[in-house]
Amino acid sequence: MSEAIVYLNGEFLPLSEAKVPVLDRGFIFGDGVYEVIPAYSGRLFRIDEHLQRLQNSLDAVRIRNPYSNAEWLQVLTGLLKKNPAEDSSIYLQVTRGVAKRDHAFPANVTPTVFAMANPLVTTDEKTFNQGVAAITRDDSRWQHCNVKAITLLANILLRQSAIDAGAAEAILIRNDDVTEGAASNVFIVSKGVIKTPPKSALLLPGITRDLIVELAQSHKLPIEEVTFSKDALLAADEIWISSSTKEIMPVVKLDGKSVGNGQPGPVARKLFGIFQDYKRELKAIGR
Ligand code: PDD
Repeated sequence: MSEAIVYLNGEFLPLSEAKVPVLDRGFIFGDGVYEVIPAYSGRLFRIDEHLQRLQNSLDAVRIRNPYSNAEWLQVLTGLLKKNPAEDSSIYLQVTRGVAKRDHAFPANVTPTVFAMANPLVTTDEKTFNQGVAAITRDDSRWQHCNVKAITLLANILLRQSAIDAGAAEAILIRNDDVTEGAASNVFIVSKGVIKTPPKSALLLPGITRDLIVELAQSHKLPIEEVTFSKDALLAADEIWISSSTKEIMPVVKLDGKSVGNGQPGPVARKLFGIFQDYKRELKAIGR
């Protein structure tokens, strides 16, 4: 396979030639934000929503957006053209830039922009049917989880504790309420009603989450954006997690116990089908 072509500060170049100075504040402080954007058949998925969330993250940490949306589109479509694949996920990050190490913001610094495209293996029927195991953990992160910051040490430790326990994801609990997963949003089904925590500073406003809410509403499936407790999670009939790379993934085991009958539930299955149809329609109309 030929080497991936990545984007760095205005240039497309082979991955092995992409270098960032060690004083980049992304390296020194984790001072930056990022996005992960799926592209199906070469088309960017929900790009306006992703670029809006990028803007919100940049505003929250006071980094100037280096590009207009039209410029971002050029960069991202350029990356897809140079890295052909059926489906891709684009990772992009913007850091505050390179400066002498000092916590305070440096003056007149240019943000560093990096982006790469990786082949995306979407969740097929077989993977969906297997589902995944998850564990619950105290949410040890900061109070600005709505910002998609590259500073992910807490998320990494939480995800690793799931892996160490033989599970795929840690579902996080703050003050007895469920927030989200280490790198996903969380849904439950309880007495026929889908529930997902409302947007707040305590969780990332997932683009997949929003789409699932939209699709459930348009298909008249009862759904509530509502806070629920760890006990409600443990008693749920169904649980799934969502993200741009996992789409909809059933959680069939939680803290070592079966969720429902230990198989993906009917509501998750229905939404999975609706989600696949939605993607197919977008491909068909060329968007
Ligand atoms: N993570 N919550 C957290 C903490 C996340 O990191 C993610 C996604 C989500 C889901 O958001 P979306 O549906 O927009 O992908 C929720 C990405 C995939 C990552 O860090 O790789």
